Amino acid sequence: MGAYDQCSQKTSPLPFHGSVSPGPKAVFAWLALLSAVLCLALLHLLRGSQLGMAVVSPLFQYITSSTNNQGVLSTYSCDYSEGQWVWSPGHARRYNGTECNVKDSENCVRNGRPDSGYLDWRWQPSAAAGCQLPDFDAAAFLAAVRGKHVAFVGDSMARNQAESLVCLLAASSPYSMVYRDQDPGTRLFWRWAFPSHNLTVSSYWAPFLARATGRSENYSMTYSTVYLNELAERWSADADSMDVAVVSTGHWFWRPSIYYNGSEVLGTHLLSGLNHTEIGFLSPYREAIRMSVQRLAGSGGRTGRVVVVSTFSPSHFEKAWDDPTTCARKTPYREGEMEVGVIPAELRKIVREETAAAATRNGGATRIEVLDVTKLATMRPDGHPGVYMHRDPFARGVPERLQSDCLHFCLPGPVDTFNEILLQLLNKRRLGK
Ligand SMILES: *[C@@H]1O[C@H](CO)[C@@H](O)[C@H](O)[C@H]1NC(C)=O
Ligand SMILES: *[C@@H]1O[C@H](CO)[C@@H](O)[C@H](O)[C@H]1NC(C)=O
Ligand SMILES: *[C@@H]1O[C@H](CO)[C@@H](O)[C@H](O)[C@H]1NC(C)=O
Ligand SMILES: *[C@@H]1O[C@H](CO)[C@@H](O)[C@H](O)[C@H]1NC(C)=O
Ligand SMILES: *[C@@H]1O[C@H](CO)[C@@H](O)[C@H](O)[C@H]1NC(C)=O
Repeated sequence: MGAYDQCSQKTSPLPFHGSVSPGPKAVFAWLALLSAVLCLALLHLLRGSQLGMAVVSPLFQYITSSTNNQGVLSTYSCDYSEGQWVWSPGHARRYNGTECNVKDSENCVRNGRPDSGYLDWRWQPSAAAGCQLPDFDAAAFLAAVRGKHVAFVGDSMARNQAESLVCLLAASSPYSMVYRDQDPGTRLFWRWAFPSHNLTVSSYWAPFLARATGRSENYSMTYSTVYLNELAERWSADADSMDVAVVSTGHWFWRPSIYYNGSEVLGTHLLSGLNHTEIGFLSPYREAIRMSVQRLAGSGGRTGRVVVVSTFSPSHFEKAWDDPTTCARKTPYREGEMEVGVIPAELRKIVREETAAAATRNGGATRIEVLDVTKLATMRPDGHPGVYMHRDPFARGVPERLQSDCLHFCLPGPVDTFNEILLQLLNKRRLGK
């Protein structure tokens, strides 16, 4: 398949411009990441789901309320973006992915993944932040979003998180599928209802957030064409109906694309053959995030909307993309064993900057939160389906070459923690004022 050809394009110009000038070490890290992501991209893995995490807004002081085990209400401010995974038997064994209809390639238990220790970890925020991340509480989540529309918008990591949320809620409340694409394999736009709480949950495929044609819609095409002056139609048409909008994307920006502003070509990424300026992917990503947050934080639609932007959740391809052991780890990285990569850190910074700028412009009228999952996701190479994206992959012996999914997370799996943090964000209350 074309995957390999594109993997060799990693020598294209660095996507940094302006003030960012990475040193040799950073360049090396960048190349390693880029090649991993490019190879990944080719595997057609990106149609699906995914998402992120939470950080205290630099502009507003919020408090988080929680009830301790004596039933006493305590308040503290929490930063979940830094921390470590600690052993906690059974923590992520909360649902059966088959019963909530998760995407087959993420249903690791059904697919025969033999180890299950990856379900025994919980995220412990850094001691310095002085807080615990409570277990997911379906009743509390349902109460927080009663009568609302919770929408996930973005790439397959947005979908991965949407499906996690549906499963976490379904374990305590009946639900139904309201809508799904004709081809259930694609999972481009799905909607679920929880009638007990008049709750709607939706998942919108919009990997560039902006309007895009080409490869993101049709895998026979070699690149995507992205219009950075226009949001993708389906989600932006529904934006006014969203009470909680979780925006999560990133991986498609690493792939070959041509970017337009109306009819003007802004530049290309990994498409030197088209003879336009290589503009990398950081500025298009920034523009897409900016435009989306602006739309959601702007006037119109629901009052009290909460806009949540997830940070980048990196993949963990350690070898060739089709090496059956490319992501075969069984435990999280230990603290200090792996650092957040240069590019994920850049993308995270863009989310922080753009959400802070939007909150300033908006004067606090719409709550804008960052769901910062980059560190916690970086530390979970063990949480991906790997070869267990296929059912019983070794039923006929161990093949030499086999595609792995080292990007999305197993369901159940570490992505459930994204929703544990989402709940805490939704329940934050403004201090003072
Ligand atoms: C999950 O649910 C399916 C369908 O109800 C069932 O066949 C399967 O045994 C369950 N798996 C586990 C591990 O309980
Ligand atoms: C359900 O929620 C919608 C808004 O999402 C609202 O318009 C409608 O009145 C609610 N229905 C009931 C029965 O509460
Ligand atoms: C996808 O692209 C290929 C190659 O350009 C084209 O032949 C095919 O008709 C397209 N499929 C759809 C569904 O648009
Ligand atoms: C697109 O063009 C308009 C009008 O010239 C300009 O205001 C806007 O900043 C441009 N957007 C991008 C992403 O370059
Ligand atoms: C690429 O663009 C440059 C500058 O615009 C031009 O001189 C050159 O002929 C172009 N090359 C191709 C192959 O079109």
